[in-house]
Parts: sequence; structure tokens; C-alpha cells
Amino acid sequence: MILDIEKLLKFIMESLEKRLDFDRGMVMLANKQKDSLVYTVGYGHNPRDESYLKNIKFHLDNPLSKGTAVDVFRKQKPVLINDVSEIESDLSAKSLDFVRAMGSQAFICVPIIYKGESMGVLIVDNVQSKKPLSQTDMSLLMGIAPQIGISINNAIAYRKIKESEERFRSLSENAPDIIYTLGINGEFTYINPAIEPNLGYRPDEIVGKYFVDVTTKEDVSKYIRAFKQVRDQKQTLKEEIGILIHKDGTERYFSISGAPNFDSEGNFIGLVGIFKNLTDIRRSEMELKRSLEKLQLAMSSTIDAISMIVESRDPYTAGHQRRVAKLAVAIAQELGLSEERIELIRMGGLIHDIGKIYIPASILTKPSKLGDLEFAMMRSHPTVGYKILNKVDFIPVIVDIVHQHHERIDGSGYPLGISGDDIFLESKIVAVADTVEAMASNRPYRPARGIAFALEEIRKQRGFTLDALVVDACLRLFEEKSFTFKLDSEETTDVNAYWV
Ligand SMILES: [Fe+2]
Repeated sequence: MILDIEKLLKFIMESLEKRLDFDRGMVMLANKQKDSLVYTVGYGHNPRDESYLKNIKFHLDNPLSKGTAVDVFRKQKPVLINDVSEIESDLSAKSLDFVRAMGSQAFICVPIIYKGESMGVLIVDNVQSKKPLSQTDMSLLMGIAPQIGISINNAIAYRKIKESEERFRSLSENAPDIIYTLGINGEFTYINPAIEPNLGYRPDEIVGKYFVDVTTKEDVSKYIRAFKQVRDQKQTLKEEIGILIHKDGTERYFSISGAPNFDSEGNFIGLVGIFKNLTDIRRSEMELKRSLEKLQLAMSSTIDAISMIVESRDPYTAGHQRRVAKLAVAIAQELGLSEERIELIRMGGLIHDIGKIYIPASILTKPSKLGDLEFAMMRSHPTVGYKILNKVDFIPVIVDIVHQHHERIDGSGYPLGISGDDIFLESKIVAVADTVEAMASNRPYRPARGIAFALEEIRKQRGFTLDALVVDACLRLFEEKSFTFKLDSEETTDVNAYWV
């Protein structure tokens, strides 16, 4: 079967020339746009005629065109003319020129049709021999024309497949992602050159290997299962994140896609898919995570430092913030909060009294009752802390904890006097932890009252000034889960840390 159109038509012309008794023959085909009939191939023409023919074009989009070839093409009916002069009056000036230029006296023009659609026309004439043309000749040509139609159509279909194959190949050869096909046993049947920069292999080193040859050992059964799903259930594997092994043995992250591949008869012939390299994305994600961790570490150290500065001025609250942080974290865990929220609560607890930095040490450590002004100053510490942290654009949740840790759910707290859900859960947790720790420990103006007293107090305040769920969690910690305030890295100089 000849599938190249030019070659095919030449072959047809040669056969016509050898086997039939016509002096000249030619095929005119509709162009791609189907707006013109153009000379495609012929025999028996001298070079001058041939170059004339190559430039001639019959318009199919002009309804007034009345050339014979156009008419045959449109009406799909053959025409036999034995004396051109008989039809001269019916022809347009252009067609007349054509007929005269070709020197035709008699000719046959038959349509080339495929599946009901005109593809072109076949024209023969006897310019040398002047042999008359007959109905038999025309019938013979009418028998041949459909064969030409089928052959041309096959050639066009083949050319289209080749073109689309070439398009796929050029797309695939230049794609940055790995494009592959697997055979029915999971072996690579094609892989594009992107395999080399991504996995270090040349395409010819991979074709014939199995897909599982480039996966980790642990993933082999997973991918065999996936392959069977694509094969048996015709499922598509969509952007599965997986590891493929580079030729140098290192692991690379890929997004792996695969779809069933069928031949023209619908038989499953394997998989076709893409591996998208995610290693760089993964690496930058890891770098981002690392720098975030570093930042968190730096933040954590800063908070520790702030906490120590506040406490260094006030021996009675030394360790207070750290113990509040410890209890607040335990309550948050008891309440099932996320790790991120718990970490913010820990940091908020560690610096919740940062505003005390502005209060003179004499007030902080005063052993007797505070005067009105002193009391007002003492009560300003949440606002002062809020202002300090707000100025440096601190993490909002921590700023809120500092601001709200003396607020009470019935609105009796300070500095804002807000109530209920206007107080964030994080602040409510620190408020309970702060209350328990403050009551249980020594104060300049009173000795420690002990944990039992502190727990009794919050039980009384449960649902009134302190959040009921938070209080319940705190009570469970002490009464059922043996919570202790003693810190993991307690320094021996901090006597208050050992009060429990
Ligand atoms: Fe406070």
C-alpha cells in the first residue's frame, strides 16, 4: 500500500498511462480549505502545459463558476465531451482559456468521490491520437475513480496520523517533564529525552526496563497494584507523589500520572503518562520549613529572654511565667488543641506579664497593701505589654494573650472588661493557669496558699469568671493526671520552683 499521496498519485497516473489508451490524464484535487480545485498530478503533458497546469486553480467557493471540472466536482456526475466547440458557449472565459491552452478537443472528466464526498476530478483526453472517447471509456474511468478516492483517503489519513505522531514526538522530545509509555507487562516502551536531565538515564537505557526498576524497593508492590488498576479497571493514576531512583542512586520526588493506552482497535497496550519532577519544589519546601524552624527557635529564645528580664526584677514572680506556660500548655493539650496553637499558648504564657517591666520594682515587691495609684499602675501591665508587643508587630495571638490574661468571662476583668467569647480561648487558658499559679505560690504580701486552695478557688469561679471547660481540664490535670508544676530544667537557685 502506498501511503505517500504524491507517490500514490504518480503510481496511479503511471498505471493509467500504461493500461488505458488515453494520451493524457490528470487529477485535480480540492485543496485543504475546499475552496479550489488544483492540479495535483498528470501524465502526457509537455513541460509548458505542466507549468501552466500547476498554476491553474478552479474556484469552488464561487457559485457562478461554471467550468466543467467544477461542475463535475459539485454534481458528482461524469462528463464526456467529444467536441469542445459544442460547449464553448457555456464556459466562462477562464475555462475557455484553459481548454484552448490545453489544446483539448475531446475529454472525459469523472468525479473522485469518497464516502459521498467529492475529493477531486480525474480528467483524460486524446490530444495526439484524436481517438474518439466513448461511453465505455467513461464507465471504465468511473470504475477506477472510487479506487483512487479510497487510496487518496488512506494516504491522507496516514499523513494525518504521521503529522500528529510527529507533533506528539516534537512536543514530547522538547518537554521538560518525562513522558513515557509502558507495555502490557509494565516495561518502558518509549521515554522522551527529559529522562536524562531528570533521572540520569539516556532513553535507550530505560526502554525495555520495568517501571519498578526505577522505584524504591518499598514501593514496588504499590506500583504493581496501581498498574493492575489501570490495566484491569481502566483507572487513571493522577499526580501521585512518589519517589523515583536517579541513575546515581539518589531519590527524587515526582508527581506520577498514568492512563491506559489503547491501540486503534481498542485493545489495551499499556500505559501512557508523565513524571513531573518535584525535587526542586520539595527542596525549597524543606528549606522554607528549615528557615521557619530557625525563626521559631529564634522567637522562642527571644521570648525566653524577655521572660527572664521581667522576672529578674521581681523575685516573687521568678519562675511564675514559666510555670504558667507549663500549666497552660498542659490544659491546651488536655483540650485537644493543635500543636501550633499550643506552641503559641506556651510563648504567650512565658511573657504574659511582660508589661510589668514598666512597673517600679518597689511596687512589684511591696510587702504591704498597694495604694490606689500603685494598684492602678499594677493593673496597667496587660495594656503596657500589649503596646510593647504591638509596636514590634509580634504574633497576634501572643499579643492577645498578653492583653487579655486578666479578662474574665463575666466581664469583671481588666483592662477591657470584655466577656464570653470576646475573650480568646488561648487567653482564657492562660487566665486559669495564671490564677492557679498565683494563688498557689508566695506573694510579697502573703505566703503561698497551696494547690488545694487554688483548685478550690477555680472550682468556685468555674463558669462565673473562668471558662468552665478550661477549669475542668485544669482540675483533671491535677486531680486525675498528677500534673506537677515542677519544671523539667529547674534551676536550683529558684526556690519558688520547688513549692509543690
Ligand atoms: Fe498578669
